[in-house]
Amino acid sequence: MSFRIGVLVSGEGSNLQALIDTVHGRGGMEIVCVGSNNPDARALARAEAAGIETGRFPAGSYGSREERDAVLASWLGERRVELVVLAGFMEVLGPAYIRRFRGHTVNVHPSLLPAFPGVHAIDQALAQGVRLMGVTVHFVDEGVDSGPIIAQEAFDPVTYSRDIAAVERRVHEIEHRLLPRVVRLIAAGRVRIDPENPRSVIVDEDGVGDD
Ligand code: GAR
Repeated sequence: MSFRIGVLVSGEGSNLQALIDTVHGRGGMEIVCVGSNNPDARALARAEAAGIETGRFPAGSYGSREERDAVLASWLGERRVELVVLAGFMEVLGPAYIRRFRGHTVNVHPSLLPAFPGVHAIDQALAQGVRLMGVTVHFVDEGVDSGPIIAQEAFDPVTYSRDIAAVERRVHEIEHRLLPRVVRLIAAGRVRIDPENPRSVIVDEDGVGDD
């Protein structure tokens, strides 16, 4: 029995590609479907090239965002997905989705949360002149990038001359390692919410490598 993963995307899909390359079909983990709000996302072509089922769910095709979220949650549920990974999914999922997948959805975000949630996080951090930037992987709740934090990695943007393209490359390099690592840890049952503090996540990293 494999650990069944669904991935939601909106754009380029480099994080999806990292998951396909380092998680999919390994260690009993399988990406069973990839869904997008953007029918033209390059990420969908990456999924199809890997032989993974895709689904297109543009909000405009539904009566409301809530209705779309409910259809999306059912689609993932029918595929018996145990973990949903938001890999560059650029819309906020509402209660119809969260009710079904709370505690089973993670997101990768290009800042050290809770600093700079939402869109354009890298630009915001550079504009703020912060001395440390980074990447966060967190559980998804009904807020914007606000759920319990599972993993973070920081870097010093000054080393990259605050050149946005160089900073973005560094962010991606970290994301492509950190997100697959968290997925492996969750599949191995090594990630749980602290029963004494619902904001805090307990991670048992022993013996789970990067690849
Ligand atoms: C990633 O950098 C991810 O952290 C960011 O979008 C990018 C998607 O790249 N997500 C957010 O900003 C979510 N708030 P990708 O499509 O190449 O994986």
